[in-house]
Amino acid sequence: MNRAEELRGKILELTAEYVKAAHAPKAFVPGQSKLTYAGRVFDEAEVINLVSSSLDFWLTAGPCAGEFENRMAGFFGAPDFFLVNSGSSANLLMVAALCAESADKVPGGPGRMLPGDEIITPAVTFPTTLTPIVHNRLVPVFVDCEVGTYNMDPALVEGAIGPRTRAILAPHTLGNPCDMAVLTDIAKRRNLWLLEDCCDALGATFDGRPVGAFGALASLSFYPAHHITMGEGGGVLVNNRGFKKIVLSLRDWGRDCWCDPGRNDTCGKRFDRQMGELPFGYDHKYVYSNLGYNLKATDLQAAIGLAQFEKLPRFIEARRKNFGRLFEGLKSLEDRLELPRIDPRANPSPFGFPITVRKGIDRRALIDHLENAKIETRLVFGGNILRQPGFLNIEHRVHGDLKASDRIMRDTFFLGVYPGLGDEQIDFMLERINAFF
Ligand SMILES: Cc1ncc(COP(=O)(O)O)c(C=O)c1O
Repeated sequence: MNRAEELRGKILELTAEYVKAAHAPKAFVPGQSKLTYAGRVFDEAEVINLVSSSLDFWLTAGPCAGEFENRMAGFFGAPDFFLVNSGSSANLLMVAALCAESADKVPGGPGRMLPGDEIITPAVTFPTTLTPIVHNRLVPVFVDCEVGTYNMDPALVEGAIGPRTRAILAPHTLGNPCDMAVLTDIAKRRNLWLLEDCCDALGATFDGRPVGAFGALASLSFYPAHHITMGEGGGVLVNNRGFKKIVLSLRDWGRDCWCDPGRNDTCGKRFDRQMGELPFGYDHKYVYSNLGYNLKATDLQAAIGLAQFEKLPRFIEARRKNFGRLFEGLKSLEDRLELPRIDPRANPSPFGFPITVRKGIDRRALIDHLENAKIETRLVFGGNILRQPGFLNIEHRVHGDLKASDRIMRDTFFLGVYPGLGDEQIDFMLERINAFF
């Protein structure tokens, strides 16, 4: 063993010891301990991976990123998964990929989206699911959502299609799968691209298939509130292989070259191509075939993600268990609270537990009651996004009305189910809610 290896061993040993001492679980004191709606759940494995990666000092996406991408693609049975720096970046990449010139050559859809083309999406949404649509000069067509699933009402989608509609962007809200049987059928019959926002739904299935495996592309987020985390992070699943080069190029500055960081001439034709109107043989490393970004993540992030990935099955189980316990424990209040609705074909991987108060129940009073007991609550993201100050003046079309979306904005909130909450905490949440009534 050389000196560096010896020191590395010592550092990692100390790191494990430190994590056990500094991040030991704290005793739960009902009403005093804060019950966050989400949070990172980790042990020494994540910190050892992070420290180890920092000692390697690779920094940019490298071996850990490659390994994480392979494992994620394997989890979904997808041809490719590309790591990016957030779920928002993943959504941007998906939409930008549909607008790339070369999307015209991708089979399985209507070709490239042009400014003014439409994309169907729900009115209750996360802002950065919608923003890339607006930034790419596409027109969002809003359909109403359902109280209970909080997803876009599948019965409304086909009627929302107009002469310029080219795509559907479906988020699986709070980890509850959309009706993918209806959405895939419509996309196929009407020749539309189907995109899935799975940022809240890692591990959820519909008809036994993971959500994220249905659309041409799907996005994930690894922000700390999500099923697994690397701090900031996200990714794009590429199910339609025709998008592979486009997504990679848009993520990596728009370049035509696909060399991994630190590699040259993977294609063997670095100085032997005729591209655009460039002089023959212009260095392929600096040839740009798309208007791209730099949305890559670092190897440090991926190193954390690898340790989290190992815990994913257990995390999903814990979320499902907490969700199930809240559901059972609140059944007796169904005349006052609308509980989540789950399609029998769906197995959610819950992000949270949504509750809609029925007529006569004051949501604000219930939220205050819970927050006073240190039980954190959240609203369903932007509510009816068209009522948000930044979105009042966006170009859009509404199909039908958005009455349910307005109700969700007014009457719905959600509780945490993340793996940091155990039986004791869920019992306390149930006790407090029952006490309110
Ligand atoms: C449905 C949905 N899409 C996209 C995002 C954005 O992910 P990120 O925070 O990683 O940018 C979120 C964030 O929570 C989300 O809930």
